Amino acid sequence: MEGAISSWPNSRIAVVTGGNKGIGFEVCRQLASYGITVVLTARDETRGAEAVERLRALGVTDVIFHQLEITDASSITTLVDFLEARFGKLDILVNNAAVVGVEYFKQLDTKKEKFAGLDFYQRIEWMFKNVNERIDGARKSVQTDYYGTKRVTEALLNLLQSSSDGRIVNVSSDFGLLRCISNEEVRQDLNDIDNLTEERLAELLDKFLRDFEAGELEANGWPTGFSAYRVAKAAMNAYTRLLARRHPMLRINCAHPGYVKTDMTMGSGVLTTEEGARNVVKVVLLPEGGQTGKYFAKGEESSFM
Ligand SMILES: NC(=O)c1ccc[n+]([C@@H]2O[C@H](COP(=O)([O-])OP(=O)(O)OC[C@H]3O[C@@H](n4cnc5c(N)ncnc54)[C@H](OP(=O)(O)O)[C@@H]3O)[C@@H](O)[C@H]2O)c1
Repeated sequence: MEGAISSWPNSRIAVVTGGNKGIGFEVCRQLASYGITVVLTARDETRGAEAVERLRALGVTDVIFHQLEITDASSITTLVDFLEARFGKLDILVNNAAVVGVEYFKQLDTKKEKFAGLDFYQRIEWMFKNVNERIDGARKSVQTDYYGTKRVTEALLNLLQSSSDGRIVNVSSDFGLLRCISNEEVRQDLNDIDNLTEERLAELLDKFLRDFEAGELEANGWPTGFSAYRVAKAAMNAYTRLLARRHPMLRINCAHPGYVKTDMTMGSGVLTTEEGARNVVKVVLLPEGGQTGKYFAKGEESSFM
């Protein structure tokens, strides 16, 4: 066991999306170390099977692979059918899979980059300076990070409700905090959980993509630089809060892992995947009856703002 966050019965089942690498892979390893049966999912069969083999080589055996492309309805249905038949319930869903929706400049050789000499802010600045963001990537980020996460969640809700203590952790980011959006109306709408609806979230995302295409992000108060990723994560955060209200028997939270050295950040982060995953797992393993509808930054409850 990694440490005494809480004690758990041994029959817990967890699904982790995007479990083949990065933070998701480590989340799988750490959850399994708590005696939880982990369904490691990946969109690519080979990458997923290889990840399970890597875990087996580390002595982690209670991990099962299942294919899951989070933007593909039939792939989601196949996973749901598998879980239904095999376990009849789900205790933990970690929505980890995401794309950042930008292209890093092709000539970058990160091995030669001297990240070691750069502080946190210099590394973030390096990322912003070395990316292009195009409409296709922006659409993909919105489709994956918001709609994919939402679709997987909706499909698994029944199974989560069959658990005595169902939990969802949406892996979020400080890039999705509301302060990243300077448009006051959008920010207020996303924060007004009493009145916000999924339809309004969809309208806001449509408007964002239209403004992106028209080159009007800055003029309309949207973030620039990793803009789709930030807006999609902000929408996912708001959706998390809506869902937590709707399903008070479940624990549904957002977890920002910190700035982690993964492919998503081209290895520029300051935390290892083990450290980042620990910040997610801490939220997964909150005590029974603990917080719901909250945002946790590096394992501590924090503000959505
Ligand atoms: N790294 C950071 O500093 C940081 C900071 C804040 C938040 N986060 C969040 O942490 C999570 C994990 O990020 P990471 O840094 O570990 O990124 P990563 O190394 O790029 O891994 C992303 C994972 O998501 C999978 N994925 C992407 N699109 C998918 C889809 N449509 N269906 C299924 N799987 C898909 C990828 O699969 P493939 O291998 O097939 O591409 C991969 O397994 C993300 O939610 C990210 O937003 C990361």
